[in-house]
Amino acid sequence: MKLPELKIGSLIAKIPIIQGGMSVRVSTSALAIPVAECGGIGTIGGSGIPVEELKEDIRKAKNATKGVIAVNIMYAMRDFYELVMGSIEAGADMIITGAGFSRDIFKIGKTHNIPIVSIVSSASFAKLAEKLGAAAVVVEAAEAGGHLGTSLSLRELFPTIRKAVSSIPLIAAGGITNGFEMAEMMDAYGADGVQIASRFVLSEECSVSQEFKEAYLKAQQEDIVLVSSPVGLPGRAIKTPFVDKMLADEDIAAKTCRYQCLKKCNYKYCISERLLASHDGDMENGLVFSGANTYKMKEILPVREIFNRFVKAAESVYKEHPAEKPAVVGAAAR
Ligand SMILES: Cc1cc2nc3c(=O)[nH]c(=O)nc-3n(C[C@H](O)[C@H](O)[C@H](O)COP(=O)(O)O)c2cc1C
Repeated sequence: MKLPELKIGSLIAKIPIIQGGMSVRVSTSALAIPVAECGGIGTIGGSGIPVEELKEDIRKAKNATKGVIAVNIMYAMRDFYELVMGSIEAGADMIITGAGFSRDIFKIGKTHNIPIVSIVSSASFAKLAEKLGAAAVVVEAAEAGGHLGTSLSLRELFPTIRKAVSSIPLIAAGGITNGFEMAEMMDAYGADGVQIASRFVLSEECSVSQEFKEAYLKAQQEDIVLVSSPVGLPGRAIKTPFVDKMLADEDIAAKTCRYQCLKKCNYKYCISERLLASHDGDMENGLVFSGANTYKMKEILPVREIFNRFVKAAESVYKEHPAEKPAVVGAAAR
Protein backbone atom coordinates (compact mmCIF):
# COMPACT_ATOMS: atom_id res chain seq x y z
CA MET A 1 0.00 0.00 0.00
CA LYS A 2 1.17 3.54 -0.80
CA LEU A 3 2.80 5.38 2.10
CA PRO A 4 0.91 8.42 3.35
CA GLU A 5 2.30 11.93 3.02
CA LEU A 6 3.72 13.58 6.11
CA LYS A 7 1.96 16.85 6.97
CA ILE A 8 3.68 19.16 9.42
CA GLY A 9 1.85 22.45 9.85
CA SER A 10 1.06 23.52 6.30
CA LEU A 11 4.09 21.70 4.85
CA ILE A 12 3.75 18.42 3.04
CA ALA A 13 6.48 15.85 2.47
CA LYS A 14 5.34 13.37 -0.19
CA ILE A 15 7.46 10.66 1.44
CA PRO A 16 7.25 10.46 5.25
CA ILE A 17 11.02 10.56 5.78
CA ILE A 18 12.91 13.31 7.59
CA GLN A 19 16.65 13.18 7.02
CA GLY A 20 18.00 13.82 10.50
CA GLY A 21 20.03 16.97 11.05
CA MET A 22 23.74 16.34 11.63
CA SER A 23 25.84 19.18 12.96
CA VAL A 24 29.29 20.44 12.14
CA ARG A 25 28.81 20.17 8.35
CA VAL A 26 27.73 16.52 8.21
CA SER A 27 24.29 17.38 6.79
CA THR A 28 24.63 20.45 4.61
CA SER A 29 22.59 21.58 1.61
CA ALA A 30 24.54 18.99 -0.44
CA LEU A 31 22.50 16.28 1.32
CA ALA A 32 19.34 18.21 2.19
CA ILE A 33 18.65 19.25 -1.43
CA PRO A 34 18.48 15.73 -2.94
CA VAL A 35 16.46 14.53 0.07
CA ALA A 36 13.91 17.33 -0.45
CA GLU A 37 13.89 16.64 -4.21
CA CYS A 38 13.02 13.00 -3.46
CA GLY A 39 9.99 14.14 -1.46
CA GLY A 40 11.43 13.86 2.05
CA ILE A 41 12.36 16.65 4.45
CA GLY A 42 15.99 17.64 3.97
CA THR A 43 17.58 18.92 7.17
CA ILE A 44 20.67 21.08 7.40
CA GLY A 45 22.61 20.60 10.65
CA GLY A 46 22.65 24.15 11.93
CA SER A 47 24.95 23.80 14.95
CA GLY A 48 28.70 24.13 15.04
CA ILE A 49 29.04 26.41 12.02
CA PRO A 50 29.09 30.20 11.80
CA VAL A 51 25.65 31.78 11.39
CA GLU A 52 26.58 33.43 8.09
CA GLU A 53 27.72 30.09 6.64
CA LEU A 54 24.45 28.50 7.77
CA LYS A 55 22.36 31.26 6.21
CA GLU A 56 24.18 30.95 2.92
CA ASP A 57 23.69 27.19 2.91
CA ILE A 58 19.95 27.54 3.62
CA ARG A 59 19.59 30.05 0.76
CA LYS A 60 21.47 27.67 -1.53
CA ALA A 61 19.09 24.84 -0.61
CA LYS A 62 15.97 26.99 -0.97
CA ASN A 63 17.08 28.17 -4.43
CA ALA A 64 17.77 24.62 -5.54
CA THR A 65 14.54 22.88 -4.54
CA LYS A 66 10.85 23.48 -3.99
CA GLY A 67 10.88 20.64 -1.43
CA VAL A 68 10.93 21.09 2.34
CA ILE A 69 14.18 22.34 3.91
CA ALA A 70 14.46 22.19 7.70
CA VAL A 71 17.27 23.30 9.98
CA ASN A 72 18.24 21.34 13.09
CA ILE A 73 19.58 23.46 15.92
CA MET A 74 20.88 22.11 19.22
CA TYR A 75 19.50 23.93 22.23
CA ALA A 76 22.80 23.29 24.01
CA MET A 77 24.55 25.76 21.68
CA ARG A 78 25.50 29.14 23.04
CA ASP A 79 24.37 30.82 19.80
CA PHE A 80 21.05 28.92 19.70
CA TYR A 81 18.82 32.00 19.24
CA GLU A 82 21.14 33.58 16.70
CA LEU A 83 21.09 30.35 14.68
CA VAL A 84 17.29 30.14 14.92
CA MET A 85 16.76 33.76 13.84
CA GLY A 86 19.38 33.45 11.08
CA SER A 87 17.67 30.30 9.77
CA ILE A 88 14.28 32.03 9.68
CA GLU A 89 15.76 35.07 7.95
CA ALA A 90 17.44 32.86 5.33
CA GLY A 91 14.10 31.19 4.52
CA ALA A 92 14.17 27.80 6.27
CA ASP A 93 10.79 26.04 6.11
CA MET A 94 10.99 24.43 9.55
CA ILE A 95 13.10 24.49 12.71
CA ILE A 96 13.87 21.22 14.46
CA THR A 97 15.42 21.48 17.92
CA GLY A 98 17.41 18.77 19.69
CA ALA A 99 19.92 18.28 22.55
CA GLY A 100 17.86 20.08 25.19
CA PHE A 101 14.41 21.62 25.31
CA SER A 102 13.61 25.23 24.47
CA ARG A 103 10.29 26.66 25.69
CA ASP A 104 10.74 30.09 24.10
CA ILE A 105 11.22 28.73 20.60
CA PHE A 106 7.47 28.17 20.18
CA LYS A 107 6.72 31.90 20.55
CA ILE A 108 9.31 32.62 17.87
CA GLY A 109 7.68 30.00 15.67
CA LYS A 110 4.25 31.63 16.08
CA THR A 111 5.58 35.14 15.48
CA HIS A 112 7.36 34.11 12.29
CA ASN A 113 4.81 31.54 11.19
CA ILE A 114 7.32 28.72 10.97
CA PRO A 115 6.68 25.19 12.27
CA ILE A 116 8.76 24.10 15.25
CA VAL A 117 9.50 20.43 15.69
CA SER A 118 10.94 19.17 18.99
CA ILE A 119 13.14 16.12 19.31
CA VAL A 120 12.24 14.42 22.59
CA SER A 121 12.99 11.18 24.39
CA SER A 122 10.24 11.09 27.03
CA ALA A 123 6.45 11.32 27.21
CA SER A 124 6.62 14.31 29.56
CA PHE A 125 8.65 16.44 27.13
CA ALA A 126 6.53 15.24 24.21
CA LYS A 127 3.37 16.41 26.00
CA LEU A 128 5.00 19.69 26.92
CA ALA A 129 6.05 20.29 23.30
CA GLU A 130 2.50 19.54 22.12
CA LYS A 131 1.04 21.94 24.72
CA LEU A 132 3.45 24.73 23.84
CA GLY A 133 2.69 24.52 20.12
CA ALA A 134 5.10 22.09 18.47
CA ALA A 135 4.00 21.24 14.92
CA ALA A 136 5.34 17.70 15.35
CA VAL A 137 7.53 15.69 17.68
CA VAL A 138 10.46 13.46 16.78
CA VAL A 139 10.69 10.56 19.21
CA GLU A 140 14.39 9.80 19.39
CA ALA A 141 15.44 6.56 21.04
CA ALA A 142 18.69 5.03 22.26
CA GLU A 143 19.65 3.58 18.86
CA ALA A 144 20.15 7.10 17.46
CA GLY A 145 23.50 8.66 16.65
CA GLY A 146 24.85 11.76 18.38
CA HIS A 147 23.53 12.95 21.72
CA LEU A 148 21.03 10.71 23.47
CA GLY A 149 18.22 11.54 25.89
CA THR A 150 17.22 8.00 26.82
CA SER A 151 18.45 4.46 27.22
CA LEU A 152 15.13 3.05 25.97
CA SER A 153 14.97 1.39 22.56
CA LEU A 154 12.65 2.82 19.91
CA ARG A 155 10.19 -0.03 20.32
CA GLU A 156 10.09 0.54 24.10
CA LEU A 157 9.94 4.33 24.00
CA PHE A 158 7.63 5.03 21.08
CA PRO A 159 4.42 3.47 22.50
CA THR A 160 4.72 5.53 25.72
CA ILE A 161 4.76 8.73 23.67
CA ARG A 162 2.12 7.53 21.19
CA LYS A 163 -0.23 7.17 24.18
CA ALA A 164 0.63 10.63 25.51
CA VAL A 165 0.47 12.74 22.34
CA SER A 166 -2.56 12.84 20.11
CA SER A 167 -2.90 16.09 18.16
CA ILE A 168 0.37 16.37 16.22
CA PRO A 169 2.42 14.01 14.04
CA LEU A 170 4.91 11.72 15.76
CA ILE A 171 8.09 10.80 13.96
CA ALA A 172 10.12 7.72 15.00
CA ALA A 173 13.93 8.05 15.08
CA GLY A 174 16.83 5.82 16.00
CA GLY A 175 18.32 2.80 14.28
CA ILE A 176 16.05 2.63 11.23
CA THR A 177 18.02 1.22 8.31
CA ASN A 178 15.44 0.05 5.77
CA GLY A 179 11.88 0.41 4.52
CA PHE A 180 10.61 -2.68 6.34
CA GLU A 181 11.52 -1.12 9.68
CA MET A 182 9.99 2.17 8.53
CA ALA A 183 6.72 0.40 7.66
CA GLU A 184 6.79 -1.44 10.99
CA MET A 185 7.11 1.85 12.90
CA MET A 186 4.24 3.39 10.95
CA ASP A 187 2.00 0.35 10.84
CA ALA A 188 2.40 -1.40 14.14
CA TYR A 189 3.50 1.56 16.26
CA GLY A 190 1.42 4.34 14.72
CA ALA A 191 4.28 6.65 13.67
CA ASP A 192 3.40 9.30 11.09
CA GLY A 193 6.88 9.14 9.62
CA VAL A 194 10.50 8.37 10.42
CA GLN A 195 13.67 10.37 10.92
CA ILE A 196 16.79 8.72 9.57
CA ALA A 197 20.37 9.96 9.76
CA SER A 198 23.10 7.30 9.65
CA ARG A 199 21.74 5.76 6.44
CA PHE A 200 22.20 9.18 4.79
CA VAL A 201 25.81 9.49 5.95
CA LEU A 202 26.40 6.56 3.64
CA SER A 203 25.13 8.47 0.63
CA GLU A 204 27.18 9.80 -2.26
CA GLU A 205 25.93 13.31 -1.52
CA CYS A 206 26.83 13.51 2.20
CA SER A 207 29.76 15.89 2.37
CA VAL A 208 31.85 14.22 5.10
CA SER A 209 35.31 12.90 4.23
CA GLN A 210 35.72 9.51 2.58
CA GLU A 211 37.49 8.38 5.80
CA PHE A 212 34.31 9.16 7.79
CA LYS A 213 32.25 7.02 5.41
CA GLU A 214 34.90 4.25 5.54
CA ALA A 215 34.61 4.23 9.35
CA TYR A 216 30.87 3.66 8.91
CA LEU A 217 31.42 0.89 6.35
CA LYS A 218 34.00 -0.89 8.51
CA ALA A 219 32.13 -0.60 11.82
CA GLN A 220 31.12 -3.85 13.50
CA GLN A 221 28.35 -3.89 16.11
CA GLU A 222 30.86 -3.83 18.98
CA ASP A 223 32.66 -0.79 17.51
CA ILE A 224 29.61 1.45 18.07
CA VAL A 225 29.78 2.62 21.66
CA LEU A 226 28.47 5.17 24.14
CA VAL A 227 30.75 8.06 25.00
CA SER A 228 30.26 11.03 27.26
CA SER A 229 29.88 14.41 25.62
CA PRO A 230 30.95 17.77 27.08
CA VAL A 231 27.27 18.74 26.60
CA GLY A 232 26.54 16.55 29.62
CA LEU A 233 24.69 13.84 27.69
CA PRO A 234 25.81 10.44 26.49
CA GLY A 235 26.53 10.20 22.78
CA ARG A 236 26.76 7.30 20.36
CA ALA A 237 29.87 7.05 18.25
CA ILE A 238 32.19 4.68 16.39
CA LYS A 239 35.41 3.70 18.17
CA THR A 240 38.43 5.66 17.02
CA PRO A 241 41.82 6.03 18.73
CA PHE A 242 40.41 9.21 20.33
CA VAL A 243 37.41 7.29 21.72
CA ASP A 244 39.78 4.58 23.03
CA LYS A 245 41.67 7.27 24.93
CA MET A 246 38.42 8.66 26.32
CA LEU A 247 37.25 5.22 27.43
CA ALA A 248 40.65 4.60 29.04
CA ASP A 249 40.22 7.84 30.98
CA GLU A 250 43.29 9.46 29.46
CA ASP A 251 43.66 13.21 29.50
CA ILE A 252 42.03 14.40 26.27
CA ALA A 253 41.21 17.93 27.36
CA ALA A 254 41.81 20.78 24.93
CA LYS A 255 44.40 23.29 26.02
CA THR A 256 42.20 26.27 25.13
CA CYS A 257 38.51 26.81 24.39
CA ARG A 258 38.67 28.01 20.80
CA TYR A 259 35.02 27.69 19.82
CA GLN A 260 33.05 28.78 22.91
CA CYS A 261 30.24 26.71 21.39
CA LEU A 262 28.24 25.34 24.34
CA LYS A 263 26.07 27.08 26.94
CA LYS A 264 27.42 24.63 29.52
CA CYS A 265 30.58 22.63 28.86
CA ASN A 266 32.34 20.22 31.19
CA TYR A 267 35.61 20.82 29.27
CA LYS A 268 36.51 17.11 29.24
CA TYR A 269 37.42 17.58 25.59
CA CYS A 270 36.54 19.97 22.82
CA ILE A 271 33.58 18.54 20.96
CA SER A 272 33.75 21.03 18.08
CA GLU A 273 37.41 20.24 17.46
CA ARG A 274 36.77 16.48 17.54
CA LEU A 275 33.73 16.59 15.24
CA LEU A 276 35.55 18.85 12.79
CA ALA A 277 38.49 16.42 12.79
CA SER A 278 36.30 13.47 11.79
CA HIS A 279 34.47 15.55 9.19
CA ASP A 280 37.82 16.38 7.63
CA GLY A 281 39.09 12.79 7.70
CA ASP A 282 41.32 12.73 10.80
CA MET A 283 40.19 9.38 12.18
CA GLU A 284 42.99 9.31 14.76
CA ASN A 285 41.68 12.36 16.64
CA GLY A 286 38.10 12.59 15.47
CA LEU A 287 34.75 11.73 17.07
CA VAL A 288 32.46 9.92 14.60
CA PHE A 289 28.84 10.06 15.72
CA SER A 290 26.79 7.13 14.46
CA GLY A 291 23.54 5.30 15.06
CA ALA A 292 23.65 1.85 16.69
CA ASN A 293 22.72 -0.01 13.51
CA THR A 294 25.32 1.43 11.16
CA TYR A 295 27.05 -1.95 11.13
CA LYS A 296 24.10 -3.30 9.14
CA MET A 297 24.72 -0.93 6.22
CA LYS A 298 27.47 -1.83 3.82
CA GLU A 299 26.93 0.40 0.78
CA ILE A 300 27.29 4.03 -0.19
CA LEU A 301 24.31 4.88 -2.39
CA PRO A 302 22.92 7.96 -4.15
CA VAL A 303 20.14 9.61 -2.10
CA ARG A 304 17.59 8.75 -4.81
CA GLU A 305 18.47 5.07 -4.55
CA ILE A 306 18.13 5.17 -0.75
CA PHE A 307 14.63 6.64 -1.19
CA ASN A 308 13.68 4.15 -3.91
CA ARG A 309 14.74 1.20 -1.74
CA PHE A 310 13.02 2.53 1.39
CA VAL A 311 9.77 3.27 -0.40
CA LYS A 312 9.72 -0.01 -2.34
CA ALA A 313 10.35 -2.09 0.78
CA ALA A 314 7.98 -0.07 2.97
CA GLU A 315 5.14 -0.11 0.45
CA SER A 316 5.50 -3.86 -0.07
CA VAL A 317 4.42 -4.43 3.53
CA TYR A 318 2.72 -1.20 4.66
CA LYS A 319 -0.93 -1.63 5.48
CA GLU A 320 -2.32 1.02 7.78
CA HIS A 321 -4.37 -0.42 10.61
CA PRO A 322 -6.61 2.53 11.58
CA ALA A 323 -8.21 0.54 14.37
CA GLU A 324 -4.86 0.15 16.10
CA LYS A 325 -3.90 3.80 15.69
CA PRO A 326 -5.26 6.38 18.11
CA ALA A 327 -8.29 7.97 16.41
CA VAL A 328 -6.76 11.43 16.63
CA VAL A 329 -3.91 10.55 14.31
CA GLY A 330 -6.18 11.08 11.30
CA ALA A 331 -5.79 13.96 8.85
CA ALA A 332 -8.30 16.14 10.69
CA ALA A 333 -6.11 16.18 13.76
CA ARG A 334 -3.11 17.71 11.99
C1 LIG B 1 26.79 12.11 12.59
C2 LIG B 1 25.52 12.48 13.34
C3 LIG B 1 25.34 13.77 13.79
C4 LIG B 1 24.16 14.13 14.44
N1 LIG B 1 23.97 15.43 14.82
C5 LIG B 1 22.79 15.81 15.37
C6 LIG B 1 22.53 17.17 15.67
O1 LIG B 1 23.35 18.04 15.43
N2 LIG B 1 21.35 17.49 16.25
C7 LIG B 1 20.40 16.55 16.51
O2 LIG B 1 19.33 16.90 17.03
N3 LIG B 1 20.61 15.24 16.21
C8 LIG B 1 21.77 14.87 15.63
N4 LIG B 1 21.96 13.55 15.28
C9 LIG B 1 20.83 12.60 15.45
C10 LIG B 1 20.08 12.39 14.12
O3 LIG B 1 19.55 13.59 13.64
C11 LIG B 1 18.98 11.32 14.18
O4 LIG B 1 17.87 11.70 14.95
C12 LIG B 1 19.44 9.95 14.66
O5 LIG B 1 20.78 9.71 14.37
C13 LIG B 1 18.58 8.88 14.01
O6 LIG B 1 19.12 7.61 14.18
P1 LIG B 1 19.90 6.85 12.97
O7 LIG B 1 21.16 7.62 12.76
O8 LIG B 1 20.13 5.50 13.51
O9 LIG B 1 19.02 6.89 11.76
C14 LIG B 1 23.15 13.16 14.65
C15 LIG B 1 23.37 11.85 14.22
C16 LIG B 1 24.52 11.50 13.57
C17 LIG B 1 24.68 10.08 13.08
